Amino acid sequence: MAVPKAAVWERDPHTAAKHDLLRKYLEAWAPILLSRNDLISYAEGFAGAGIYKHGEPGSPVIAYDVFTGALHRYPKRMRMILMEEDPRRVEELERQMALVRSRHTDDVTERVAVDIRHGDYHPSLLQKLRSIGSLGKPLFVLLDSFGGPDIPYSLLHELGRYRSTEVMVTFEPSFLTRFAQNHDGHRQRGDEAFGSQDWQAVFQQPSPLKFAFLREQYRDTLRRAGFSHTLYFEMVDEGSRKLYLNRPGSNGDSIS
Ligand SMILES: C[S@@+](CC[C@H](N)C(=O)[O-])C[C@H]1O[C@@H](n2cnc3c(N)ncnc32)[C@H](O)[C@@H]1O
Repeated sequence: MAVPKAAVWERDPHTAAKHDLLRKYLEAWAPILLSRNDLISYAEGFAGAGIYKHGEPGSPVIAYDVFTGALHRYPKRMRMILMEEDPRRVEELERQMALVRSRHTDDVTERVAVDIRHGDYHPSLLQKLRSIGSLGKPLFVLLDSFGGPDIPYSLLHELGRYRSTEVMVTFEPSFLTRFAQNHDGHRQRGDEAFGSQDWQAVFQQPSPLKFAFLREQYRDTLRRAGFSHTLYFEMVDEGSRKLYLNRPGSNGDSIS
C-alpha cells in the first residue's frame, strides 16, 4: 500500500483484517488481565487518526470499545497511551476519542485514562511507559507502522524484558528485499530492526523464499528480544504485497 498523505484515508481490506485480529485478541486479553490486576495499560506508537474515510473506526477506538466492555464486568482501571506524529491525525484522534468516550457511561469512562501524545513515538513512548510505571505491569503495545522496518530492536528488547508485556508489530518484508541490497542506509535500517546482520542472507535466497526467510528471521529477532511466544498473520494487500502482523508475548505469559 502506498503511504497515504491525507489526514484520514481509505481503509483497505488488510487493515480491516488486522482490526478484526486486534479486536478479538483484546477481547480475550483485557478481561483476563483485569480479572487479576487493578490497573492495566495499552499503548500505541502509530495511533493514526482514529477513523477511516468511510467512518470505520481506527485501532485506538476499537481498543477503547473493547476495554469499556471489559470494565463493565470488572471494577478496575485502564490507561491508554496513544502516540502519533502527524498533527492533523492527532487532532482527528482527539475528536474521535472524545466521541467514543461520549458513547459510554461516566462510571466506565472515568476509569479509562486516555493520554494522546503528538510526536515521534521513539524513544518517547518508552520514556512515558517507564515514567508512569507501566513497564513490568500488564501492558499491550501496538506498533502498527506502515510496514517499515520502523521498529528498532533496542525497543523490542526493552519491552521484552518484562513477562507481562505483549506486543503486536506490523512488518513489511518487501522494502528490504527490493531496496536494501545496494543501499547502505536501507541495510542499516534492516540491521537496526533485526538487531543483527543475519537477515542480509535474504539476498542469497531464491525469490520465492525471500519473504518466508525474512519472516522467520523476524520471529527469531522477537524471540531474542525476550518474546518467547510468537504468532504471525500474513496479510496481502491490493497490490499483492505481503505484510506480517506479529503477535509476540513474553516468557510464557501469553493468553493464546
Ligand atoms: C498504519 S498507520 C496506523 C493505523 C492505526 N494503528 C489503525 O489501525 O487505525 C501509521 C500511523 O503512524 C504515524 N507515524 C508514522 N511514523 C511515526 C512515528 N515515527 N511516530 C509516531 N507516529 C508515526 C502515521 O502518521 C500514521 O498515522
